[in-house]
Amino acid sequence: MTIIADDTGWILQTAHVAYALGINEAGYLVHRYWGARLPHPDDYPPPPESAGWVSFNGPGQMLPEEYPAYAGLKYVEPCLKATFADGVRDVALRFDHAEVNDDNLDLHLRDDHYPLRLTLHYRVHPDHDLIERSASLINDGGAPIMLERVLSAQWHPPQQPRYRLSHLSGRWSDEFNLHRDDLPQGVTRLESRRLTTSHHHSPWFALDDGRSTEDTGDVWFGALAWSGNWLLLAEATDYGSARISLGLNDWDFAWQLDPGETLTTPAAYAGWTDGGFGAASRILHGFIRAQLPHGERPHPILYNSWEATNFDVSEEGQAQLAEIAAALGVELFVMDDGWFKGRLWENAGLGDWTPDPVKFPHGLTPLIDRVKALGMAFGLWIEPEMVNPDSDLYREHPDWVIHFPTRERTTARNQLILNLARPDVQNYLIAQFDALLREHDITFIKWDMNRNASEPGWPDAPRDQRELWLRYVQGLYRVWGTLRERHPDVLWQSCSGGGGRADLGILRYADQIWVSDNTEATARLRIQDGFSQCFPALVMEAWVTDAGRGQVPLDFRFHVSMSGVLAIGGNLLTWSEEERATAARWVAYYKQIREIVQLGDQYRLLSAHEGPYSAIQYMDKEADHGVLFAYRVWLPDPALLPVIRLRGLIPDARYEIQGVEGERSGLAWMHDGLRLPLANLESTVRTIRRVGAI
Ligand code: DGJ
Repeated sequence: MTIIADDTGWILQTAHVAYALGINEAGYLVHRYWGARLPHPDDYPPPPESAGWVSFNGPGQMLPEEYPAYAGLKYVEPCLKATFADGVRDVALRFDHAEVNDDNLDLHLRDDHYPLRLTLHYRVHPDHDLIERSASLINDGGAPIMLERVLSAQWHPPQQPRYRLSHLSGRWSDEFNLHRDDLPQGVTRLESRRLTTSHHHSPWFALDDGRSTEDTGDVWFGALAWSGNWLLLAEATDYGSARISLGLNDWDFAWQLDPGETLTTPAAYAGWTDGGFGAASRILHGFIRAQLPHGERPHPILYNSWEATNFDVSEEGQAQLAEIAAALGVELFVMDDGWFKGRLWENAGLGDWTPDPVKFPHGLTPLIDRVKALGMAFGLWIEPEMVNPDSDLYREHPDWVIHFPTRERTTARNQLILNLARPDVQNYLIAQFDALLREHDITFIKWDMNRNASEPGWPDAPRDQRELWLRYVQGLYRVWGTLRERHPDVLWQSCSGGGGRADLGILRYADQIWVSDNTEATARLRIQDGFSQCFPALVMEAWVTDAGRGQVPLDFRFHVSMSGVLAIGGNLLTWSEEERATAARWVAYYKQIREIVQLGDQYRLLSAHEGPYSAIQYMDKEADHGVLFAYRVWLPDPALLPVIRLRGLIPDARYEIQGVEGERSGLAWMHDGLRLPLANLESTVRTIRRVGAI
């Protein structure tokens, strides 16, 4: 049973984890427990009692409420802040009733006086050791209620002497830097105010007591499934506890909840493990893989034309690249930016999604046919949300962009953002891209987004213009979701100038993610290591390009990309026979290991964040076959080579490692380990095989 109701509340149980909550003696819905699943229901503590502390702190300040609203003597970060029609800004929620349905628990609360209802949704993912939470606000009255903050969840890790927050931050071309910082007393705020997820921070966290490692220790972790403005508040309270709140950003936020209306937040997911940061990542990896629209299915090796041709695309030029790509063993050819009307450079064309008549006088079909004749599938780049002022669409509908009428419309990369909050814009985009996909044999779409919001106005908005932030993302999901439904065989890639839109929300629509525009392999090692904290290799598209060519060996560049979904993005016309032979060899090798890399369990043996010698391992579910990658970027000679201790092997089974002498037990490889001597800028990939396994 995943949900047990006891005398004082509910116990949510996954295979290894329990999360208990309940109603205390004063009627507050409070947190009780989060950690290892305990043998008996009466092992779980009762709800903490209400107690204030002198006149300066009411019980609301001290209690771990599951979903605190701003009310009373409460100064901790609330999940909910609202203003009623009479100006009252105090929300007093009381538990009303509960509903249990399989793996779902709905808790219904009501305001004491006003017709505001709150339903907290809990969903247990028993096989993935995750708890999912979201909240619905319902207006049962006759007057609007203004919502000023509506988060998805507040999580209460158990009390520790010290709290350390792991988070990801960065910037364009340098995404997913991993930071582990002690939480100071007070509130640490991570967020996006950019309309999309952003390159700068990620809606993911891990919390420990400062002593956990990659392989050991308690870690509480989670992520938000939302591709717009989000907020993570990590609060170390004045009384030694910590709270992590996650949800829609309240910055410039407003939502007018009209009579009869319901607003439901995005889903937040969280888990616990005693297996360290690596185990936390593997839990998220397994869950994300299982939730992908196409499920756990290996992704093809693609070629992307962007770095080779930029905007200078033509049927002949693309076909030349395609011929070489096919000879290397590539399975999918993707034409990037530059193919549509007027797109000579980045200053024009966005919005006009028909093939450029000069570059493609006979449309795209002749090129698609040539690609297919070479035995590859065809994919295409689009950037649906954007418009260049120099486009027919903008000339016809200047009012369709996000703007304030009295302010200049700030362009970035010469483009403006279509207001996807508007149903007419959504319908237009659905019609355009539906037609494109119906009329062409396209089985892969790269969906790009190359700027963030400015002047966030919506002059014709039916209600408060600040609803734009949320409605835009709802509109985006509607457009993408409708296209997916109509074209179920298409594989979709999420890109926003690299990794600007990587989150669990977009992965309900996209099958894989472009991690960064930085394709230099040594930089990429660290970026990919950070990305892997949350996301599995199956969604990590990684191109071998010409960045670092002449300095970083082609083998090294391949090995870095082969640890995700291998792709090629260099200008193949300039690759020598020798380079092409190397590429063909690695493509063939990757096809043999692809299932293990893309669908297996990942172990960060030596993190690229911690040293210039890194190693990563993948194992299939049965622990029969694995792959080991090792990379040495730069170490002074004579180098003290680090020991690589494998993970995920069966201790008393015997394994051999390609190119390493001797069979040894799993325990020996994991405990004693091995050294792989590599020179600077040298790397290696080795298969791991359980001896005697089929
Ligand atoms: C940004 C993407 O990240 C690149 O891969 C490429 O698609 C360009 N946009 C095209 O404009």
